[in-house]
Formats: sequence, C-alpha cells, structure tokens
Amino acid sequence: MADLKVNIGHLALKNPVMTASGTFGYGLEFADFIPLDGLGGFIVKGTTLKAREGNDYPRMAETPSGMLNCVGLQNKGVDYFCQHIYPQLKDINTNVIVNVSGSSPDDYAECASRIDALDNIPAIELNISCPNVKDGGMAFGVTCAGAESVVKAVRERYHKTLIVKLSPNVTNIADIARACEAQGADSVSLINTLMGMAIDIEKRRPVLSIGTGGLSGPAVKPVALRMVWQVARAVKIPVVGLGGIMNAHDAIEFLMAGATAIEIGTANFIDPSVTIKVRDGIDRWLDDHGCHSVREIIGCLD
Ligand SMILES: Cc1cc2nc3c(=O)[nH]c(=O)nc-3n(C[C@H](O)[C@H](O)[C@H](O)COP(=O)(O)O)c2cc1C
Repeated sequence: MADLKVNIGHLALKNPVMTASGTFGYGLEFADFIPLDGLGGFIVKGTTLKAREGNDYPRMAETPSGMLNCVGLQNKGVDYFCQHIYPQLKDINTNVIVNVSGSSPDDYAECASRIDALDNIPAIELNISCPNVKDGGMAFGVTCAGAESVVKAVRERYHKTLIVKLSPNVTNIADIARACEAQGADSVSLINTLMGMAIDIEKRRPVLSIGTGGLSGPAVKPVALRMVWQVARAVKIPVVGLGGIMNAHDAIEFLMAGATAIEIGTANFIDPSVTIKVRDGIDRWLDDHGCHSVREIIGCLD
C-alpha cells in the first residue's frame, strides 16, 4: 500500500479523495454505501446564513456525458446546520468541510464565523459562484475584485483552513486564483459548474425553470483539467481539482496536473460507492508503478 496522505495547508488528509458539495448531501445519506471515514474528507451541501428554498422545478436535466442543475442552494441555513446536522457529523473520523455561500461579503463572513465556532469542522470551502445581490447579480467569482471582496471579509472572521472554490465561467482563472491567494486563501478548489442550457423544442422553452444551469460530469473534465493545470502553475497554495472525475484514471490526471487532492461530484449519483473505488484505484496504480507516496505524482508533468 502506498502512502496516500496529503496536506491542504494545515489540513491533513488520509488520502486525496473528497466529495463535491451538493452531490453528497450531508454525507450521512451515503453511510450505507461507503465507510465515510475512508475518505480524505467530505464537503457538505452549500450552506447560507438564512434558509433558502432553492429554485422552482425542473432543476435538473441530463445532457450528453453530463447534467445541468439549477438547484439554487436549497438549505435550511447555518444555524440549523450547527444545531441539527453538526451533532450527527462531529464524531466521524475524517475532515468534514462546509461549503459556504452568500449574497454579500458580510453574509459570507457571518456564516463562516458561525462555522468557525464548531470544533470538529476544520475547514470551509467558499462557493464564490454566487450572485452579488448588491452589485447587479453578477457572480463574485467572475472578477478579481468580486473574489477579493469575499475572501477578504471571510479571512477576517474565519481562522481555520479556507478553501476558495473558483468559477470556470471566467476569461482567466489563474488571475482569480492569484487574487484569492493574495487575500489569504489557504487553498483553491476548481471547478464549479460551467454555465449551460437545454431547450425543450416541443414546449419551445428552456428545460430548466430559470433558463440556465450549471453543467457537470464527464463533459466538463477536459476544461477542468486544463484550468487546474493553469492554476497550479500560478499559485503557491495547494489546489483541489474537480470536474467530471468518474474513476481513478481521471483522478490521477488531476493529481498529475497539479492538484493535491480531488473531489468527486456527479459520479456519486451514478455509483454511490465511487469515491472509495477511486481511492483504491489510485492506491493500486501507485503500487503498480512503484510509487511509495501519492505525493510523487502531484504536479509531476514535465
Ligand atoms: C446537483 C448539484 C448541486 C451542486 N451544489 C453545489 C453547491 O451547493 N455548492 C458548490 O460549491 N458547488 C455545487 N455544485 C458543484 C459541484 O460541487 C462541482 O463543482 C461540479 O458538479 C463539478 O464536479 P463534477 O463534474 O464531479 O460533478 C453542485 C453540483 C451539482 C450537480
């Protein structure tokens, strides 16, 4: 067995495999399928300061090699999480990471500070693909200034490992990653979903209730891999890679592109035990190739 341990800032992971927010519920839903403590960590549903209903249905659509969603961050709010969900998660022997969303920098910071108070949540992942309500609804994560405003506000009030999740719907993702690093992010994760659309030609209407949605799954993998590679060369902080990872081969590609850890999203809907299979597949590949540690292949491209 190879050594699978990696570090994201001060966060120690027993292996590089985590789950992507919004595709793994609160983890507990998957406990019948996999040992949760066999993961490097899992990232729970997007959490906001106040409860959110999410968007109207339909909010999912299947696409060739992927899916579109416009769930819209449905959740019961951070206080509900702290009181009702956290007690069920706090004794699981892995890193439980909360994905935090908001509609203003203050919103994000307040939500993050409430999670800071929970002893057994060692990190948050900031979803900066949310619309900036006070500034015309454009997502924070699509400009350096928008990304900086959120990371700066959160960094002042959150003291543990801060992972910032980048939007791929930008011209130069390396610039956004550098802006987050400069404001004190401990790590960046990428990619969130790519903006897409599907149309019902009989109804002459978009399939999704709000017209557009986020594309995920194998269709986005080459784009995600390219962005991870670009960002890993642009920043000194560790990069977490995701987007379309379906198996160990895909995961190893992300590690070689420079990701220190990976997240698995859409694949969980197809096979709820995919994460453990990916972990074991990475281990087998390392053994077969005479590698003693997964760290030997991180960013190993010539
Ligand atoms: C149904 C669904 C809900 C999602 N919800 C969130 C969310 O709340 N916060 C977030 O940062 N990303 C969210 N995402 C994006 C995923 O975490 C991930 O970035 C994206 O799906 C790409 O990875 P994948 O191709 O492995 O699914 C969601 C994705 C899906 C499919």
